[in-house]
Amino acid sequence: MLDIAFAPAAPPQSGALALLIAEGAAPAGVWAQADAATGGAVARALEAGSFTGKKGQTCVVLGPGAGLSRIVAVGLGKAEAHTERDMEEAAGTAVAAMGKDEAAAISADGMPASHAAAAALGAVLRAYRFDRYRTKEKPEDKPKLGRVTVLTDDPAAAESAWTPLRAVAEGVFLTRDLVTEPPNVLNPGEMAERCRALTKLGVEVEVFGPAELAGFGALLGVAQGSASEPRVVVMRWNGGAEGQPLCFVGKGVTFDSGGISIKPAGGMEDMKWDMAGAGAVVGLMAALAGRKARANVVGLVGLTENMLGPNAQRPSDVVTSLSGQTIEVLNTDAEGRLVLADVLWYAQQRFDPAFMVDLATLTGAIIVSLGHEHAGLFSNDEDLAAKLLSAGAATGEKLWRMPLSEEYDKAIKSDIADMKNIGGRPGGAITGAQFVQRFVNGKPWAHLDIAGTAWGRKDTPTIPKGATAFGVRLLDRLVRDHYEGA
Ligand code: BES
Ligand code: MN
Ligand code: ZN
Repeated sequence: MLDIAFAPAAPPQSGALALLIAEGAAPAGVWAQADAATGGAVARALEAGSFTGKKGQTCVVLGPGAGLSRIVAVGLGKAEAHTERDMEEAAGTAVAAMGKDEAAAISADGMPASHAAAAALGAVLRAYRFDRYRTKEKPEDKPKLGRVTVLTDDPAAAESAWTPLRAVAEGVFLTRDLVTEPPNVLNPGEMAERCRALTKLGVEVEVFGPAELAGFGALLGVAQGSASEPRVVVMRWNGGAEGQPLCFVGKGVTFDSGGISIKPAGGMEDMKWDMAGAGAVVGLMAALAGRKARANVVGLVGLTENMLGPNAQRPSDVVTSLSGQTIEVLNTDAEGRLVLADVLWYAQQRFDPAFMVDLATLTGAIIVSLGHEHAGLFSNDEDLAAKLLSAGAATGEKLWRMPLSEEYDKAIKSDIADMKNIGGRPGGAITGAQFVQRFVNGKPWAHLDIAGTAWGRKDTPTIPKGATAFGVRLLDRLVRDHYEGA
């Protein structure tokens, strides 16, 4: 992670400087000082580059003088509408516009300390890189930026606002690492070990293997085709007073080949990130524990591979889930819902939670519905849904509410069992959610279908292309805004 420092508002003597500039703003503070120190180079460049401060606009001034290697201006958008999220994005964009500098300063003067901390978060999140398997990259080709100083009117207040955000960034990075790892390395057993490492943050971790998973017939049916044993991991963070815990449940299919209902070859590699829901739950637990959230939270992940082999389950198999309900498996590629079925049932039976939120890369159909901008939100509870929608807007991990109803539920009626695991092409994300709901047992619940948002094919201001860690910031925000009251 980038080193972050907060310092009083003055241009640095060396390195790079980023100026975050609102639309229509006049030079003031660090911006005015930098312009004066460079003999008006900033003003001339902004003029020549038609820089208006429009959101996301950039203007780079190379070798501006005053000892600086570059000055990067980044537009914040309209001043009256300008939020912490705008600061994150502008700082992230600034980091991407840096050259080979080791140190950069970012202006956040004339703004609340929370905005300075948000700039730090945006810078850190954009600078993420997964380097584990690069053995031959030349040092000169590696990114150089190691330290960012945020210039602010109140460094002490910014520093204390940053402390919890730093823990959230650590959680996001843990998730991105897990989601990026290849499936030969990150099998269910290895992922469980990475969960166990949260013990050092004060999380209580239990790992269940096949011996403890008797009765998890839906999950075991998926796992039986794999040479790697399944795991269910329960992670508990007890930071709050007494009371019903909050439960978060993740789909952790470490590779989804489709099973006997095998997927086409093209794009199958994407199915290494079919554990992104579980990855988000693990990162969320790390974030909550790392910032010592005042809440009691249980994270549960169902970890398995979906493979083919002589022991793989067949289309037409009937399995008995932990709930006792039977499921006719008509397509072995609709495996995520089978995993969630048993883990959600277990969660509500054992923990009697205040609510459950599950995250899953569940359906290709949600990508057809919502593309890559919103995750699908399905819920049986208006209050929980509203809180999730607003946490999504605040963090940029946006959700769109999708319907649930008895009519959709009819699509998963089976001729020989309590239900079947597919509902046909129409409304595929919805019938997937209806299936999951049958294992919720009436608890307040939300299902987030993150198939379209877990992995990015292009850079965005705060997320380099690849694993997004969608859900970590969203659910951290949900907890922070509503469930940490004294
Ligand atoms: N993991 C996939 C869904 C997915 C697709 C995630 C694309 C990310 C990107 C899931 O297990 C799956 O295969 N779903 C099937 C369900 C169908 C057989 C009812 C699908 O969406 O095609
Ligand atoms: Mn599948
Ligand atoms: Zn899957």
